[in-house]
Amino acid sequence: MTNQGVREAADLLRRARRAVVFSGAGMSAESGVPTFRDALTGLWQQFDAQALATPQAFHDDPALVWGWYEWRRTAVARARPNAGHVAVAAIEARVPHAVVVTQNVDDLHERAGSVDPVHLHGSLFAPRCSACARPARAADGPGEEPTDGRRVTPPSCGHCSAPIRPGVVWFGEALPEDALDTAVDAASSCDVLLTVGTSGLVYPAAEIPQVAARFGAAVIQVNPQETPLDAVAAVNLRGPAAEVLPALVRAAWEAEDRA
Ligand code: APR
Repeated sequence: MTNQGVREAADLLRRARRAVVFSGAGMSAESGVPTFRDALTGLWQQFDAQALATPQAFHDDPALVWGWYEWRRTAVARARPNAGHVAVAAIEARVPHAVVVTQNVDDLHERAGSVDPVHLHGSLFAPRCSACARPARAADGPGEEPTDGRRVTPPSCGHCSAPIRPGVVWFGEALPEDALDTAVDAASSCDVLLTVGTSGLVYPAAEIPQVAARFGAAVIQVNPQETPLDAVAAVNLRGPAAEVLPALVRAAWEAEDRA
């Protein structure tokens, strides 16, 4: 990350009337939330994440899949928002119209103070019935971590008795329509889109920064690695979210505050 890159990005943000922050797993990496792709440690090592995150896997073995999500929910409940999440909430408070769109199923944006982030891939905290889709009560606090095995029997729906499923989007499932519409609307009408910690490989979510660029927004990317989104980014800030985002907020607004 160069100082000039930060200054350029800060100018774009300060002048923005409408902004979108688009986040992925890298946003929560410094909070210690394992990314989906490295989530299979310990007890879960022998499983394939992609194979667990499907409607078929839940149908075949609901307790195995529920146990995995309980394990992930417990890890998130114990994690805390990092300085990057806090900086995103500060951007939201400064830019007149700002929307946070996240691919993450954790609640760290909310806990850092972001208002109603759009969850494109659902949430670990919004379980619902696998048959009638009625929302189920989310468990409070960390769950029982399965220590003697990986299976945790999911609760049953109070209405139709079918098993409750995690409120996340599995491979092969459509994204929630409202969330996708809100994200596309925001991306097509913003001045700046800040993409943070996403590989830009998983569609249709990865379309969001591209939509913004196509409609004339300046795209700023924060990621320690190159990604396919480099191609649409006006400014690429190579570094971890918890360092780059606070530096960006300082450069955009602190000089102004001192004036
Ligand atoms: N700060 C910023 N970016 C980081 C950091 C960090 N500290 N650490 C890692 N990254 C970047 C990586 O370089 C990578 O580009 O975060 C990105 C994470 O990429 P993915 O694991 O592919 O996560 P994401 O883009 O959110 O995946 C999209 O795919 O796994 C499914 O449904 C899941 O929502 C997820 C979707």
